[in-house]
Amino acid sequence: MNSSEPRRIEHQQTDKGYVPVYTTAVVEQPWASYSRTDHRTWATLFERQRDLLKGRACREFIENQERFGMSPDAIPRFDDLNEVLAKATGWQLVGVEGLLPELVFFDHLANRRFPVTWWIRKPEQLDYLAEPDLFHDLFGHVPLLLEPVFADYMQAYGRGGVKAHGIGAEALVNLTRLYWYTVEFGLIRQDGGLRIYGSGIVSSKGESIYCLESPAPNRIGFDLRRIMRTRYRIDTYQKTYFVIDSFEQLMDATRPDFRPLYAEIAAQPSIPAGDVQGGDLVHHRGSGEGWATDGDV
Ligand code: PHE
Ligand code: FE
Repeated sequence: MNSSEPRRIEHQQTDKGYVPVYTTAVVEQPWASYSRTDHRTWATLFERQRDLLKGRACREFIENQERFGMSPDAIPRFDDLNEVLAKATGWQLVGVEGLLPELVFFDHLANRRFPVTWWIRKPEQLDYLAEPDLFHDLFGHVPLLLEPVFADYMQAYGRGGVKAHGIGAEALVNLTRLYWYTVEFGLIRQDGGLRIYGSGIVSSKGESIYCLESPAPNRIGFDLRRIMRTRYRIDTYQKTYFVIDSFEQLMDATRPDFRPLYAEIAAQPSIPAGDVQGGDLVHHRGSGEGWATDGDV
């Protein structure tokens, strides 16, 4: 694929407003097209999160990120990261324009390919943007692809996604909640305290602090059925974080066939993002301070 032309996600005017046109193609990272501003944006975000995540991110995240040799000096080249990944866990990064249709995304994961958005946010979007960019995908997701158990979990999730897609829309909703509350916003208990492993958190300055230190959100022990019923937030920090004890726990809990589980859950009501339930293993009951009153998805 010719990568000399820099690309952006194209947008299209529809009755829902200006929406991105999803491209399913794998593209080569047009590394030479990154501007000095792009590299500076990477450096700023990288240094800020590296400092913030000391003592906050889990051991595996920090150690594996160092193994890649990522630095603030320049946006990493996917080819360089892929050499490290190939030897360690067999995962490969593939460049994409942005969000993918569900089935395409699942198929990548099921084949140990992780899609990474090649473009990086603009300087005025340092603290927040609505869609994943290179910093979120690469800084946030890639380090744990070097952790063998988590690497297997991601592939199993992809296979589970292909399967859920064949079952129906409700199964997909349940499965997406699992991804959200583990891969994107998961916490892990380690060295006598809570640590971050979710990529949505590690790539966010505000939420890296909020998820561990704010009294507002609930912090509840991992429970597969409970998570699959729990709605979540896409435009505010989470109201609830779920805590695993180890990546093995995650792997073991999700190994069984989900088919009967989807059927069981279909008969139960969904749980609002901020609710605490009778059977919950509560690490911290959130004060609810500053919570939006609506908007769970
Ligand atoms: N065990 C799940 C199924 O049968 C697949 C899966 C594994 C889903 C790991 C998520 C995470 O559907
Ligand atoms: Fe993500």
